Amino acid sequence: MPSHDRVIQRTTPVEQRVEALQAALDARGMNATAGAEELDHLAQEEWIPKNGARVVAKAWVDPAFRARLLANGRAAVAELGLTLPKHHRHLVVLENSTTVQNVICCTLCSCTAFTIIGLPPDWYKDLEYRSRVVRESRTVLREMGLDLPLEVEIRVWDTTADTRYMVLPTQPPETIGWPEHKLAEIVTRDSMIGVARL
Ligand SMILES: [Fe+2]
Repeated sequence: MPSHDRVIQRTTPVEQRVEALQAALDARGMNATAGAEELDHLAQEEWIPKNGARVVAKAWVDPAFRARLLANGRAAVAELGLTLPKHHRHLVVLENSTTVQNVICCTLCSCTAFTIIGLPPDWYKDLEYRSRVVRESRTVLREMGLDLPLEVEIRVWDTTADTRYMVLPTQPPETIGWPEHKLAEIVTRDSMIGVARL
């Protein structure tokens, strides 16, 4: 390749490069543009923490559902019409308590149960979070605004390709008796990753 071509490639904005790639794939009948639009729709509208928030709210008000959720997350979320990709074979739900705080990470890359708790935030993918939350979880949580008393045990769970996690936060006592839809509104993505309490 002549050297001036390489210079042009390096300085072309990423959007133009993506468009060029999509056009090249589309021209070969591979429907890249339609595929990208579908992924964009899924990421913006379908794979959102609101799904997990519904699960948490139901678990708070329905003890039988909560038991099913803790026994088999994948089967329980299906009761709410929520699904995971086939390769997410297990959804393990980790129940917090006043004395236990569960935290999830993916030390290898960025895996989450994204159809349930949403796509991972940028900091979750950072090498700093992935490495430090394992070795010095209490300090990392404190830096993220969650200063836990020493008597709270912190359990860190490393996601794999086929086992995905979500944290079941404890219900704030002042919300006992609220209707399920209102409870779902207070559940955040960070509380289902375990770096925040509600
Ligand atoms: Fe990963």
